Amino acid sequence: MAGSDSPPPKIRVLITPEQIQEAVRRLAAEIDRDYAGRTPLLVFIMKGALVFVADLIRELRGDYPLDFMVVSSYGTGTRSGGSVRIVADLKEDIRDRDVLIVEDIIDTGLTLAEVLEHLRVRQPASLEICALLSKPSRRRVEIDARYVGFVIPDAFVVGYGLDYGDRYRGLPYIGVLDP
Ligand code: IMP
Repeated sequence: MAGSDSPPPKIRVLITPEQIQEAVRRLAAEIDRDYAGRTPLLVFIMKGALVFVADLIRELRGDYPLDFMVVSSYGTGTRSGGSVRIVADLKEDIRDRDVLIVEDIIDTGLTLAEVLEHLRVRQPASLEICALLSKPSRRRVEIDARYVGFVIPDAFVVGYGLDYGDRYRGLPYIGVLDP
């Protein structure tokens, strides 16, 4: 079972469920504080941010509306950084609204750069990013994320929504996958 206690042989636990929960609580508190009196639209990026956003909305005190985009990036194996394509767009109109993008991980930054460009032209009142993980050593374009859960080294990670070939998303921790 994906969520069973001992990690599969090729996976080394990097961030435990308890550490994730603590980070999600901290991020939720920061978001609630910063957006007090406002109602940002949370835009999560499928599929990687699915687990993160599900936990985040349960920690947020504010009752924020939710929408999502499906974005695919073409890379090889554990390397993203190919071209990025918006596969499914928002249903909500974001003009003059506060928008907070919720993403699993910022790696090269190419995915979020594309998403930001795609959304900015619709003139939202504000556009910010909340990413659970960031791998700054891999960045190819600069991304200014207001909320970041963990800064991690250059390793391919799985679990808590993150996949390798659509596997391991259900793991309750974040682990490094041996190449
Ligand atoms: P970027 O465009 O290179 O920043 O990559 C963003 C996307 O690549 C993320 O939303 C993930 O879906 C995927 N990705 C990047 N690094 C990892 C990783 O270590 N594990 C799993 N997916 C990753």
